[in-house]
Order: sequence, then structure tokens, then C-alpha cells
Amino acid sequence: MADANSPGPDRKTKGLFIKTYGCQMNVYDSERMRDVLAPLGYAPVDAPDQADLVVLNTCHIREKATEKVFSELGRLKQLKEAGGGAMRIAVAGCVAQAEGEEIMRRQPAVDMVVGPQAYHRLPEMIARLARRTGDRLETDFAPEEKFDALPEARAPEGPSAFLSVQEGCDKFCSFCVVPYTRGAEYSRSVDAIIAEARSLARHGVREIVLIGQNVNAWHGRAPAAGGEPSEPSEWRLGRLIRHVARIGGIERIRYTTSHPGDMDEELVTAHAEVAQLAPFLHLPVQSGSDRILRAMNRRHTAEAYLRTIERVRRARPDIALASDFIVGFPGESDRDFEDTLDLVRAVGFSQAYSFKYSPRPGTPAAGMQLQVEEAVKDERLARLQQLIGEQASDFNTASIGRRMQVLFTRPGRRQGQALGYSPWMQPVHVDQGASVLGGLADVDITGATMSSLTGRLCGAVAEA
Ligand code: SAH
Ligand code: SF4
Ligand code: F3S
Repeated sequence: MADANSPGPDRKTKGLFIKTYGCQMNVYDSERMRDVLAPLGYAPVDAPDQADLVVLNTCHIREKATEKVFSELGRLKQLKEAGGGAMRIAVAGCVAQAEGEEIMRRQPAVDMVVGPQAYHRLPEMIARLARRTGDRLETDFAPEEKFDALPEARAPEGPSAFLSVQEGCDKFCSFCVVPYTRGAEYSRSVDAIIAEARSLARHGVREIVLIGQNVNAWHGRAPAAGGEPSEPSEWRLGRLIRHVARIGGIERIRYTTSHPGDMDEELVTAHAEVAQLAPFLHLPVQSGSDRILRAMNRRHTAEAYLRTIERVRRARPDIALASDFIVGFPGESDRDFEDTLDLVRAVGFSQAYSFKYSPRPGTPAAGMQLQVEEAVKDERLARLQQLIGEQASDFNTASIGRRMQVLFTRPGRRQGQALGYSPWMQPVHVDQGASVLGGLADVDITGATMSSLTGRLCGAVAEA
């Protein structure tokens, strides 16, 4: 496309458009795909019609998510044809992993299918495509090979960056496709994580978000050099966070998403002792009914979840809590649903995601008796969202009149506006904020809605 920006005599710049669906893991993977493709001359463009390569990085978690992929592919096929067929289309992510063959069969316009643990092979696949030989589908689980192959240097897009420390899941909740689409649990080494965190800090990143499907299941061997003699040889997430906090320039650390069963003492204590660790915890519970939690194979009770919340609150009394819920899991009765509402009332969340149960092919729950009617799911979802909305509103309203440090990550919708995040993960808008973009600044909160805050800048941006 943009030939004028050619990086070398024999290599033209090519347009790359990646559309990302799904969770934080896909956001990270999309960024890494950009890193993998940059040496081939691919540079991001703003729209698919400017692209030589379009990648859909897909999500399989609910039926709707998967449907979106096929309708988007229909649109891309037309675009490809309109441009004479030169545009390449790749499907990546969890739908690619789960339904790769089916995608190729249903949509011949697709040139390549690559799973979440195989996208480091994209350059070879593109070469094969040019030669018109070899496989157009790569869905091996090769996390170790992938991380070894990814370029170490990253080009972060702002002051906050995701850093993947753990991938895959061995928990097999009965409703969930992730163990099938992402494979077995895999933890990256301490050395690799610290090296990536340092590289991000050197590029001006102020906030690192450690991510994983079950980020608090992360574990790793202490590095040969750098650990202290008093430290154990096997590290868990709490210790890793302490070490990331020692990297100069890193002023905020978060981690997501966690499983209640892996909230060990060291991680809870980190919330009390590590100043950079944000007072925010996203801890999905899914249901407040022990009967349903058992059928979901969540391996914890409602009571155990509440005890964990209590421990975390003791360590960090101002912590903001978020969660995920599923309504209408097979067999969920009115009583079970009331138990969920009771749990929400008992905790008091600052925000939460709630979903109608969606049967996923190949998961145990999809074949269970007593699937709940759609209308009942709708009604329960509305009631749950009402309650969560009230709690979120209360949480945000309590911020009015307070001063808080905000990390400004991007421009707001209105001219001159900047958008950032409070330590409690509340989106904060300020007017006339262009000067603070990319930095931390103190803000006096003047307004609140259910989903965000508004405020006024006070003082200058903290020095990098
Ligand atoms: N690893 C995380 C999140 C996994 S997926 C965890 O253990 O909680 C993100 C959320 O999607 C889940 O927390 C769950 O609430 C929801 N989800 C997963 N499978 C679903 C399904 N089949 N139907 C509806 N919601 C689902
Ligand atoms: Fe899915 Fe459960 Fe694993 Fe979370 S812990 S990714 S919900 S199987
Ligand atoms: Fe979706 Fe895959 Fe994430 S199924 S939620 S993109 S792990």
C-alpha cells in the first residue's frame, strides 16, 4: 500500500489491520502479532480497506462471539473481491483454534488460520502462501516455542501495557471453552517476564498489567541471579509482583484474571505491602449458589469466596472488587439465583460483568439436563445487572470530592479531553487534559456516573 514509506529498497511497507475480539489475552496477542509482522514490512493501518493483511483475532467464549466472526468474514470477502483478491485474510485466536477446519471450509476467502499458541509462525505461513505450498492452518499448542520466538523488544502504544505471564487453563469449569482453545496451563519463566517488564519500562511504560487466563496460578523457579537468599526457590504471583515493583519507572501494577482458588497468602499480603500494586481485584465468582458452583466445577463454595474477599479486604481495606457472573446455568433455580444476588449484596462490587449462560460445543455443561429458558435468563440478567449497576453507582459517587492519581492513557471523545484510570480502575475524564496524556496526574473528582468519573486536573504531571 503506502509504498512511499518503504523501509528498504526491496521491501515495501504493507498495511496491517488487526481486529481484536475477546479478553485481555487476545489484546496482548494482537500486539505481539504486530511485533512479529513488523520485520516483514507490515505497519498498522486504520481500516481494513487500506490493508494488505487483515487478521481477525477471535473469541469463542459465547455463541454470539463466534457468530460475529463469520459475519465479519462475509464483509471482508466482499472487500477482498472488490480489491481484486490481493488482500490476505487470516483468522487467529480462539475460534481459529476450535473451528479452524470449519472456517476454511465455510469461508474460502480465508487465507490462513492460526491458533493462539502458534502465531509466531505467521511469517513462515505468509511465505508459504506466496509460494502457494504447504499448510495454511497452524493450531499446535506450543507456548514455550512461541514465547522464545517472539521478539524481546516491544513497542508499547501507551503508558500502560499488558504482559502475559501465564497462558492456558487446567481448571475445566464445565461451561468454559478456554481449556480447549488455549491448552494446558503454562507459566513463563521469571527471567523472561522481568526482561519484558524492563523493556516496557525503558519504553516509557508506567503501568504493567500482568495477565493470564488464571494469572494467579502462575508459578516459576527463582532466577539463578537476582533472587535473595531468604527467598524460596519456587515463586508464585505475589513474589513476582514484588520484583516487578522494583523496576524503575513502574508506578502501577495490576493483574488479571484470577481464580478464587489461587488467592494464596503471599498474593493477599502483596496487596498490603506493595505500594505500586493497585487496590483493585477482579475475582470472578460466577454464582452465589453452592449447588451451581459444584455443577460448574468451580472448586469453591460461596462461603470460601466470601472468606477470600474478607482476607483481601483486611490486607487492603480500600480495595475495589470486580467479578464475573453467569446466569441461567443448567439447573439454576430461582433460589440459586437469589443466592447469587445475596452474594453480590454481601460483597459490594465496584464493577462486574454478567452473562447469560451460552452452551459451548464440547463442554460438559452443554449436554446437561434442565437448560434454562431464554426468557428466564433475560429476566435474571436484568435483575443482576440492576443490582450491580446500583453498587457501581454508589462506589463511583463516593469518589466525588476526593483527589486521586490518574494514569492518562488516551484522548477522550470530546476535543481536548483526556481519559485515564484511577487506582481503583474507574475511568476518569478531564477536560483540557491533552498535556497529561501518557502520564500520571492528580485529579479532583467532581462528577460520577455508574461507569465513570469526571474531574479537574490539579498540579502538574509527575516526571517520568
Ligand atoms: N479465567 C477467567 C475468565 C474466563 S472467560 C475465570 O476463570 O473466571 C470470562 C468470563 O466469561 C467468565 O468469567 C465467565 O463469566 C464468562 N463465560 C465463560 N464461559 C461462558 C459461557 N459458556 N456462557 C456464558 N458466559 C461464559
Ligand atoms: Fe474457564 Fe474456569 Fe479456566 Fe476460567 S478457570 S478460564 S472460567 S475453565
Ligand atoms: Fe475469548 Fe479466548 Fe479470551 S475464548 S475470552 S479470547 S481466551
